[in-house]
Formats: sequence, structure tokens, C-alpha cells
Amino acid sequence: MEFKSIVDSKAQGSAACAVVGIYEQGDLGVGARHLDPAIDHLIGRLYKAGDFAGKLGDSLMLPLPAGSAAARILLIGLGPRSGFARKQYRKALLAAAQALGKSGADDAIVYLGLEPVGDLDVHYRARIIAEVFSVHAYKIPDLKTGPKPKASSLATVMVATENARAEKAAAEGLTAGAAIGNGIALARDLGNLPPNVCTPTYLGKRALQLAKQWPNVTAKIVDENGIKALKMGAFLAVTQGSDQPPRLIVCEYRGAKRSAAPICLVGKGITFDSGGISLKDPPAMDEMKFDMSGAAAVLGALRTVAELKLPINLVVIVAACENMPSGGAVKPADIVTTMSGQTVEILNTDAEGRLVLCDAITYSRRYKPAAVVDVATLTGACIIALGNHFSGLMSNDDALSGELAAAGVRADDRAWSMPVGEEYVDQLKSNFADIANVGGREGGACTAASFLWKFAKDLRWAHLDVAGTAWLSGAKKGSTGRPVPLLVDFLIHRAAAQ
Ligand code: BES
Ligand code: MN
Ligand code: ZN
Repeated sequence: MEFKSIVDSKAQGSAACAVVGIYEQGDLGVGARHLDPAIDHLIGRLYKAGDFAGKLGDSLMLPLPAGSAAARILLIGLGPRSGFARKQYRKALLAAAQALGKSGADDAIVYLGLEPVGDLDVHYRARIIAEVFSVHAYKIPDLKTGPKPKASSLATVMVATENARAEKAAAEGLTAGAAIGNGIALARDLGNLPPNVCTPTYLGKRALQLAKQWPNVTAKIVDENGIKALKMGAFLAVTQGSDQPPRLIVCEYRGAKRSAAPICLVGKGITFDSGGISLKDPPAMDEMKFDMSGAAAVLGALRTVAELKLPINLVVIVAACENMPSGGAVKPADIVTTMSGQTVEILNTDAEGRLVLCDAITYSRRYKPAAVVDVATLTGACIIALGNHFSGLMSNDDALSGELAAAGVRADDRAWSMPVGEEYVDQLKSNFADIANVGGREGGACTAASFLWKFAKDLRWAHLDVAGTAWLSGAKKGSTGRPVPLLVDFLIHRAAAQ
């Protein structure tokens, strides 16, 4: 899908569909007010006749007579004007994308970006348009053999702006939104693929593809021997029960001078989490193919950053393997030595995410990073704490935590701050090793994060537990691509602050 910004006054008569908003009480939005006189006050009459009340998310597609401002007009309800904020704006745009997707229109001019939305500027309003339309156009890479549903004809989305200056700001916003959409789509594809396809080896291949596609990206794939040479004893313990070889994937993006300290994004890449010897219950075990969603998100964010050529340095580190039971699998009570030298008693083989991540975080130290952010579907306890609305956010640095939380708000991909520290590390005491990998049921998301906290000493570090946000269960089962929007917004702001 192509996105363009255009000055409103030049748009007349060109598009297959004009998308305009109407608030409740017959209060016309900017585009509707503008077009209505030329179409014999059709919109105003529809309201008066009780045919369109402007309820948020309602839509009505109408053909217009030849010679009108557009071949069709799509009315979108915006709800009460006083309540029209970012969330309502997204809902209205989604309604527009849905109605256009079902129509035969191959292009559309969207006037909704002209509405005031809280304190959002033209750039952000346009960015959200491109993001919503591109996310709506996403198709799951399914393996269904029947006839494919008809693809939407919508190929071009034009965004009306007030003047030449706004046109330029909107164009930049559209570029950002489309790139974010592409990053989300990559993350969702990787998450949605079945685990017999999306293996650690496959993730490595996709990283190499990114490096091939984007000139400022390089990828290094470390195999099992390399991981042994790095002495990543915790990572190796998780993979040892699996027939699939593990991969440590390291991608570097360079958009700033060599001396600028990079941000490191670390992703949990468990391509299937059976629990290992501490085997999970069968219900919903299929969803453990999504246990590489952290890896998918950091690769998705990398794709967006490369596409936007952000002036930052970024390193993406993915620890990818399966967690499987076998005669050779790690057992409860096994003790391993991590890359940091600290020993871990593995009391529960299903607490594997923290094991692969502690070694990946230690590996990140070689980059002397400005900040390390790990992303992981780490604990069921985080879902109990926050549900599916917020990602868990833990950090040893208040400024970094604040930046990430603010990025989540701006990107509508929110995270909620939760505690880490000594109190929770106390729950991880072992009689036989420096630390155990589990610490009881109480505060499960916090003890897991505090395990990582111990390995992140002296780093500016944050952790996003996306167990509740990275995918949906039930009828809409599938990857959400979260927290790509949060990560990208965080990096865009970092880039702007430089
Ligand atoms: N990948 C799971 C966490 C998870 C579970 C995410 C369900 C989403 C839905 C993780 O590896 C895990 O199994 N964690 C255990 C930790 C426990 C053994 C301390 C959990 O949450 O039950
Ligand atoms: Mn597990
Ligand atoms: Zn897991």
C-alpha cells in the first residue's frame, strides 16, 4: 500500500473515495464541512434524516454522482467531539480501513488527519494513519489450501493536509507509520509461523535476509560450537534437550558515528517452549510457538529503524533455541555456569527464558551499550498481574524506564512499571549455587525480572515482559507485533535527542 500526503485544495475530483468524519450531534468534521456544499449537503441531510448519527466507528459508504469531488464518499463516525482523542482517532481510522478494504476503491483520500486529536501534531496524525492502514492490511501467513479470499483493491491512501508545510510533515509521518507497519508485520509473521518452520535456524536466516536487504545492517549467526566457545552455559542448558540446533543472532545497525554507544535490544527466541522436563500441561501448549515473540519484536524494530535510517547505533541480540524434554535434556537440580561466571541451579526447566536471556545480556556488555532493553514472553505471572493490556516494565534506571513508558503511551502500546531488586532476588536463594532459576509463585513476574537484574548490574537496563501482549488467544489467535510500536517510538525519540 502506498501513502501520499496532498494539499486538500489540490485533491478535488481525483480519488475513488473521500473519507470524512462526522462527530455526534450532526457536527461535521473538517473534510465533511468542506465537501458537503459541493454535494448538495448530502451529509447534513443524512444526519437530519437519522441515517448517520456519527457514533464512533460507524461507517457509511455512498456513491456520488459523476463529476463530484470523488467517486464515493465514506462517512466515519467520530463520536462526541469533546472525547475525540488518540484512541478514538485510531478506532475511526480502523473503521475507515475496514470499509475501504471491503469496497472496490483502489485509492482514497483521507480527511481524518485534519481533525484535532489531543496534542498530536500533523506528523503523528499522519503516522497513525499509515500504521493503522498497514496493520489492517496484514494477512497471516496461513497454510490453508482452499480458495484465497479476495484481496483488497486499495492500493493508494492519500492524506489531505492544510498547506504545503503540513503536506511535508505528513509525508514524513506517513513514511514512519508505513515503516512501523512493516516492522509489526515482520514480527507478526515470525510469531505466526508454525514452530516446525520458524526454528532457531530459520530466525537466523531471516536475520541474514535483513542484513542483505538493508545496507546499514550486518548479521552474525553464532552456532552451537560458537555458543560453547562463549561459555553460555545457561543458554546451552536450555537447548540441550532439543534436536534443533540453537542460534545466537547478532545484528548491528549503524546510523550514527562509530563512537556513539549503541542501544542493545535483546530478544527471547524460544521457538517452542514445551517446558522441558518440567513439562507444561497440554491445553494451549500450541501457543508456546509464540515464545519467540521477543525475538520477533526486536527484529521487527530493527527492520523499521533500518528503513527509517534513524541516526542511532542499534545492536539486536537474539538467543534462539527450543525448550524440549529428552533423555539429554537439562533436569531440575542441574547446576550450570553462566557466561558471567555465576552459577545457577535449575529448579524448574520451564523457567528457561531467564536462562537464555542472562547469557545474552552478558554478551551485550561487549558493546558498552548506552542502554540494554530485553523483550521476552517471560512469565505467565505477568499476565495474571497486568492482563493483556500492558506489558510489564522493569528497570534498574528510572530515566530509561520513564522513556520506555512514555514511548508506550505515544505509540498506544503501553507498559506498566513493576518492581525489581534484592527483595525478589532473596526468593531465588539456592543451597547449591549462586542463584536458583525460580523463586516461588509470589511476584512471579518480578522474581523472573530480578533474576535478570542480577546479570544486568552496572548496565542501564530495562526488561519488557510481553507474555500478555505479544499474542492473542481464542478466535483471534495470532501475533500482535507488540511491543514493536513502543520500541520504535523509544528509538525515534532517542534519535531525535541526539
Ligand atoms: N514462556 C513461558 C511464559 C508464558 C506462559 C508466557 C504462558 C505466556 C503464556 C515461560 O517460559 C514460562 O514457562 N514461565 C513459567 C515460569 C515458572 C516456571 C516460574 C511460568 O510463567 O509459568
Ligand atoms: Mn517456559
Ligand atoms: Zn518460555
